Amino acid sequence: MAIHEYDFLHLQGSATSLILEMRANAPPIWRHWGQKLTAKAMPLANLLDQLPVPTFALDHNIAPTLFPTFGHGWYGAPALLAHRSGTQFAQDFTRCEAHWVTTDHHVIIKLVDDVAQMCVEIDVSLSPQTDVLTLQTRLTNLGETALDVQYCASACLPLPTNACKVRAYSGRHNHEFQLFEDKLSPATWSRENRRGLTSHDCPPCAVVVSDSTDMHQGPAFGLQLAWSGNHSQRIDALDDGGFQWQIAQWLAPGEVILLPGESLMAPIAMATFSNAGLNGVAHNFHAQARKHVTWPTGKMSPRPVHFNTWEGVYFDLNEQALMDMASGAASLGVERFVLDDGWFMGRRHDRAGLGDWWVDRSVFPDGLHPLCAHVTGLGMAFGLWVEPEMVNPDSEVFRAHPDWVLQLNDRPQLTARNQLVLDLSNPEVFDYLQARLVALLEEYPITYLKWDHNRDLTSAGHTETPAYRNQILNAYRLFNAVRQQFPNVEIEACAGGGGRIDAGILMHTHRFWTSDCIDAVSRLSIQRGFLQFFPPELMGSHIGTSPAHVTGRSQSLGFRAAVAMGGHLGLELDPRCLSDGDRQETRAWVGLYKSLRDTLHSGQIWLGVAGDGIIWQAHGHEADFVLMIYRVSPTAQRLPPQVQLSFLSGATDYRVKILSPSACFDASNGEFFSKLARGEAVASGQWVKEIGFPLPFMKAETALILRFSA
Ligand code: DGJ
Repeated sequence: MAIHEYDFLHLQGSATSLILEMRANAPPIWRHWGQKLTAKAMPLANLLDQLPVPTFALDHNIAPTLFPTFGHGWYGAPALLAHRSGTQFAQDFTRCEAHWVTTDHHVIIKLVDDVAQMCVEIDVSLSPQTDVLTLQTRLTNLGETALDVQYCASACLPLPTNACKVRAYSGRHNHEFQLFEDKLSPATWSRENRRGLTSHDCPPCAVVVSDSTDMHQGPAFGLQLAWSGNHSQRIDALDDGGFQWQIAQWLAPGEVILLPGESLMAPIAMATFSNAGLNGVAHNFHAQARKHVTWPTGKMSPRPVHFNTWEGVYFDLNEQALMDMASGAASLGVERFVLDDGWFMGRRHDRAGLGDWWVDRSVFPDGLHPLCAHVTGLGMAFGLWVEPEMVNPDSEVFRAHPDWVLQLNDRPQLTARNQLVLDLSNPEVFDYLQARLVALLEEYPITYLKWDHNRDLTSAGHTETPAYRNQILNAYRLFNAVRQQFPNVEIEACAGGGGRIDAGILMHTHRFWTSDCIDAVSRLSIQRGFLQFFPPELMGSHIGTSPAHVTGRSQSLGFRAAVAMGGHLGLELDPRCLSDGDRQETRAWVGLYKSLRDTLHSGQIWLGVAGDGIIWQAHGHEADFVLMIYRVSPTAQRLPPQVQLSFLSGATDYRVKILSPSACFDASNGEFFSKLARGEAVASGQWVKEIGFPLPFMKAETALILRFSA
């Protein structure tokens, strides 16, 4: 695209537009990102002509751009901090080109600074299917000396003046995705993660909303970084009352020094706008995530009912007991059996063994063959837990290669969960891990790996230089190497539960272990945070035992199962210990999940709040959806609230059926509820949209699952 004195570049999604003001000798100026505009709705004038010059200011305005730089007029947060041994600390682009890849949707913008001798290419695409804006930035050193890069933003986005609140997530191990809200103000809003992996406490994502936005309507902007390492995010106020939102990988000092001709590829940023509130943002991100997952056959298969041995037996592994568990799991309807931690050399507890990826013959005298044959003989797939990036100092591999770990000269090595981190940039380490994984996958009929990472990084050096970024890039390379050789193997991303949940690792994996906390009440908020960014079929959600191991709280099987139905269902308990009644009820829930999984895992999901301790979640399509209603806390009202399904168009009427296999209310609540229990209830779509669906009395920590069919 030849750029004249100035031009407007308009990218269109299905409900979103992005408009940049282009000049041949300057970076693109942000004019709009938000509600879709027609091709006719162009700015009234170029921005620099339309902005009055304030007092005590430069004699011409410097507008917010796609990639603002420091030191030559822009006082806001720059997208780049770089220098050459203290010189050329200021940058300003002198040339700009735009090259369409797909007209109206996908463009590559090339910016050159002839003075600072660097080039930035930004690949910008706005998906017409998902309304997700994807940005990828490559910075190249065109000079003759090294360019030390301290910061390079993956996205630098405009937010309008009615943006007023940011919704972000904090947490810890066993307590991921805890929502908090901050009001935007003239003070910079910022979050930084230096834990070396995505983290439990600061996932690289957030949503910004206006005062009037709710779950179902109003403007909402979402942003996430496809990166599993250190990262930062900031929102800065702009002179016109709007804001600038940046997301980036966080670089340790000296981590990126570009030699002449070298480039830095920043992680992909994904952003979206929706006028349909928080659910609209979730919908767009889910659609995009579904495009990114690479399934073995090119298409997601029905998500199999999963079984994981961890909370059932922890490290107490015994071949016969595992076979009995497998038989029990199969009789409950389980389709995939995953052998968790504890199967390899010396791993009788969490103080030894990591790195020695050979089957421990003291537990499995004939290797895993008898167990695999038993599991597959029962018609289940076999999955295995690994934690390739880690090593225990008490392991054969560490004793032989103490130099293989990430470490700093003259500093002690800091263990966490008794383990150290292997340096994946070391080719010997990489080859060793690849060879061990390949050997296991070749020897056994493993179709699933649960790939764990049970500590944060610290002192992550290649003895002298920082290794954080290299570690992530090489972990991705290891995932790729395994997947290329075993394309039929699915992988679950786990890091002490949800410490590595991000769009970057998702490009290599197929499921997240959402949290080590399986308490159903705790899970509700964790899962709702997850679902803001990723779709339910990727969210591992298991029925655990009662009391829950992490919290000590007890919940009925019906409630535990109903909460687990909101994601990819699994069981994580010891089937040998179930009572006959629980066995029968679990079987019924598993059967229900199988009959519903197509609806649960396709289409859209909508989250809502009915008040008085009731929250809900709907999955499917307008004409056929499953509604899960959870009473989280005891009622404080005399009468229950109604569930208003604001997401409906109101044009359709429904037959409504109860699906929950566990009794969840007393039919003496009234004639309507008896009818509902008999499957004879009908509902006007308009009524439930505008007024609501009536609820019976429900005890705290119970759930009701309904199906609405047109
Ligand atoms: C942490 C995971 O989140 C658990 O599910 C389990 O796999 C343990 N690691 C095993 O060590």
